[in-house]
Amino acid sequence: MTARSYQILLAAWIVFGLVIFIILLFVSAPYGRHTRKGWGPKIPNRLGWIFMELPSLLVFTWFFLSARGKPEPVSWIFFILWVAHYTHRSLLFPFMTKTRGKKMPLLIVLFAVFFNMVNGYFNGSYFSVFGPHYTTEWLTAPRFISGTIIFIAGAWINISSDQKLLRLRRISDGEYRIPGGGLFKYVSCPNFFGEIVQWTGFAVLTWSPAALAFALWTFFNLVPRALDHHRWYRKKFTDYPEERKAVIPGVL
Ligand SMILES: NC(=O)c1ccc[n+]([C@@H]2O[C@H](COP(=O)([O-])OP(=O)(O)OC[C@H]3O[C@@H](n4cnc5c(N)ncnc54)[C@H](OP(=O)(O)O)[C@@H]3O)[C@@H](O)[C@H]2O)c1
Repeated sequence: MTARSYQILLAAWIVFGLVIFIILLFVSAPYGRHTRKGWGPKIPNRLGWIFMELPSLLVFTWFFLSARGKPEPVSWIFFILWVAHYTHRSLLFPFMTKTRGKKMPLLIVLFAVFFNMVNGYFNGSYFSVFGPHYTTEWLTAPRFISGTIIFIAGAWINISSDQKLLRLRRISDGEYRIPGGGLFKYVSCPNFFGEIVQWTGFAVLTWSPAALAFALWTFFNLVPRALDHHRWYRKKFTDYPEERKAVIPGVL
């Protein structure tokens, strides 16, 4: 593929993400608490998570390694951040959920596989073929340093908030409860907020249009889901904290 075709496809991918965002504002993605009938065959939750997220790890790695020469040392830092996140998401997180007996639609899984393959391709091939030569000066640039701090802060918020939810599930006999502690004081879905912050940090530290597209897609996917969760909490729990926002502290 030429650099020009890559850029055109990436722009089209972002526009497609915007269309999905608008659809998700009206139709809640039917998994987790929003699972419902009418979305075709279902598969066990845990299997679904592994199957959905693994392509991101594999496809990214494949394209990253199919480099024009050897990947440059700085790119290996991007590689490690990506692989650490997706090893956790595809191979550890699914085994931490208490999800026995729950299922998700195969359609959702297939769409996520498609998303993760395309996203893995755009990012992996950017660092190996279409991106700039990341020299070691990159490591002292303000965007690398600030982006890395944002990435780590986002990952910490994401993982620690997910852990709070999983702990709540363990002590609540499989039921949903009002989460608390940490950023739950301010928003219903700090795990989604953390994920958005994390990939925004990745876009800043790599200064790459492919990572920007990923950060935008994360926003497009997770903001509507957070709004759905937030509405669901308010409907289910009459004592749900009034001042809590959905996903961005103090804003939304
Ligand atoms: N980058 C992206 O585009 C993207 C897209 C989707 C997800 N993700 C990430 O994947 C992770 C999981 O996403 P998700 O949509 O499954 O998150 P979620 O709806 O917040 O659920 C996370 C886990 O906690 C359980 N849980 C949630 N709220 C609970 C409550 N009030 N009481 C007890 N248990 C509760 C859920 O059980 P149930 O499954 O039974 O509800 C699930 O096992 C998050 O870190 C998210 O950021 C990223």
